[in-house]
Amino acid sequence: MNRIFKLALCAGVATLVSTAAMAAGMTVGFSQIGSESGWRAAETSVTKQEAEKRGITLKFADAQQKQENQIKAIRGFIAQGVDAILVAPVVATGWEEVLGEAKEAEIPVVLLDRGVEAPQDLYLTSVASDQVKEGRVAGEWLVKTVGDKPCKVVELQGTVGSTPAINRKKGFEEAISGHSNITIARSQTGDFTRAKGKEVMEGFLKAENGGKDICAMYAHNDDMAVGGIQAIKDAGLKPGKDILVVSIDAVPDIFAAMAAGEANATVELTPNMAGPAFDALEAFKKDGKQPEKFIITESKLYTPADNPQGEYEARKGLGY
Ligand code: AHR
Repeated sequence: MNRIFKLALCAGVATLVSTAAMAAGMTVGFSQIGSESGWRAAETSVTKQEAEKRGITLKFADAQQKQENQIKAIRGFIAQGVDAILVAPVVATGWEEVLGEAKEAEIPVVLLDRGVEAPQDLYLTSVASDQVKEGRVAGEWLVKTVGDKPCKVVELQGTVGSTPAINRKKGFEEAISGHSNITIARSQTGDFTRAKGKEVMEGFLKAENGGKDICAMYAHNDDMAVGGIQAIKDAGLKPGKDILVVSIDAVPDIFAAMAAGEANATVELTPNMAGPAFDALEAFKKDGKQPEKFIITESKLYTPADNPQGEYEARKGLGY
């Protein structure tokens, strides 16, 4: 081994050791929204696994869907003097004060999977998907699938005031605008849960001639779609055939529904937001490297042509 190679190797090992040591020493507070969906459960599991893998001590707080609990948890993390804070903000507004307190305490905050309406200097970075694009991908799929046939859509929205609900609605509407044969007949929140999705869809079916007038159900997440699929079946119709089903997340249960011919399309949202978040935090802690303000994850469309049974098998043990 020549001397230069040996030196480079030593430097590389030293860097690895010091980065690992730095990560191993880090204590990170994570304010999670709750456990409203399969996707959320997977994000929680992946975050815990990523922290363990890197030797990071993770302090986990479940807010049970309440912003006030998230604010309390963040204040608690600040009082404990954690090295960084991850927060998945349940709604977009109302964060300025508490994020300002974290900034004042010089604790970097990373937003996970949802955005906030607050000045960008109040957080280090945001790791999330392009949610407008997710809605657009879902809408473009519908436009292509129905062609010029008339199509009445019912929409199950996510949590009111959350960025995925706002943006996925916007992206879908953008995609169908200019296609006057496609209209959103009804739109209501199902709060990203399976139970609410089912309940709201039952109401839509009753209001739309027992469902006979509905051409497609667009759900802002797969869990609401799965609840809606059950409602369609209970009404004596065939989901995926009588009523097209398009949603977002790509959780195992939607692939099971797709394999059974009961769902038609989903847009993938990776549950691994913590990987890029910890990478950014480690680089920032090590040498002050400022990450990109927005780290955007992919939004891939899946349909029955993408081996849904295989996708179900590959994902089912991942914490969903
Ligand atoms: O913020 C991401 C969304 O939150 C997911 O699409 C949904 O399933 C959830 O609970």
